[in-house]
Amino acid sequence: MDLWTIDEHDYPSGGTPEAQLRFLVRYAILAPSGHNTQPWLFRVRGDRLELFADRTRALPVVDPVDRAMVISCGAALANLMVAAERFGMDATATLLPDAREPDLLAAVRSTGARRATSDPALFSAITKRRTTRRAFEPTPVPEAVLDSASAQAASCGAGLHWIIEPERKHRAAELIAEGDRLQCADPSFRRELASWVRSRRAAGRDGMSGYAFGMPDLLSPVGALIIRTFDMGTVQAAKDQALAEGSPAIGVFTTRGDGAADWLAAGQAMQRALLSITAAGLTSSYLNQPIEVPALRPRLAMLLGTGESPQILIRVGRGPELLPAVRRAVEDVMLSA
Ligand SMILES: Cc1cc2nc3c(=O)[nH]c(=O)nc-3n(C[C@H](O)[C@H](O)[C@H](O)COP(=O)(O)O)c2cc1C
Repeated sequence: MDLWTIDEHDYPSGGTPEAQLRFLVRYAILAPSGHNTQPWLFRVRGDRLELFADRTRALPVVDPVDRAMVISCGAALANLMVAAERFGMDATATLLPDAREPDLLAAVRSTGARRATSDPALFSAITKRRTTRRAFEPTPVPEAVLDSASAQAASCGAGLHWIIEPERKHRAAELIAEGDRLQCADPSFRRELASWVRSRRAAGRDGMSGYAFGMPDLLSPVGALIIRTFDMGTVQAAKDQALAEGSPAIGVFTTRGDGAADWLAAGQAMQRALLSITAAGLTSSYLNQPIEVPALRPRLAMLLGTGESPQILIRVGRGPELLPAVRRAVEDVMLSA
């Protein structure tokens, strides 16, 4: 089944809150995640849905404190809440509801009442959003698009700072390139990345196809072998530097603190901003290296000059239409009640 094609009319509007919450999980799983690990699990009991981090899907080398994992789960929660709003479900989310259970990231309760449905644009963008790793057209991104993405981020308590000027873009691109060189020189980084590169047809329905990096899907195992075996840092750095400098806008999400609650806020902020960017007909991609490499993160923060912690770095522009990345089926991410 194509998980990216959802018939809205299948929403059980006359059904139980449990059936409705289960339906919303179809939208949650379309969120982006680091290396497409899809590190989330859901449990639905009556009118309560719980979102858990699936720490068995951790990336200990690139994400040793599970920051990107929690951000990814925040993105899944944002999709779920945007869909709930769209279907008129009166739902409230409580973040980190139980200090004794750190894997329980959020609890969503549906009152069963109906409320006015929200603007359909963000909702429709859930199934259209893609990570586009190709070069973007140099046409500037309209200021209104950047402003509304920042407003979406602010509504979740996070900052979204835009880097547009060539000189600042150049400095950000240099940090990205430095990150590539440092990461690729580390065999354990390469081994971890390679272990998540696989064909779209692989049974696990997770990870990244070579297609996402511009090669035929069938060559994914070859791509993984090359990543694992060779330090391609210099080549990758030149490529990413050109992609960053050639993109009309670079955006950095920031938060005041740097703990699980901040990462959840950053994840929701990121996803709502990406949905608004998608709704405007634009696309986005990540160049997170300066946040992943601890020595570079303070330098990125200095470039922004806000004193906040950078959480995610994206580039935005117009790009080609791509096939969506694979997703695991809803049944595979549901814990039994
Ligand atoms: C927290 C987070 C960090 C990510 N970091 C990177 C990155 O540094 N480089 C990259 O190419 N993609 C990055 N991605 C994108 C994922 O690889 C992508 O979401 C995943 O492969 C699924 O593809 P999709 O977004 O097209 O659905 C990141 C995604 C998230 C949520």
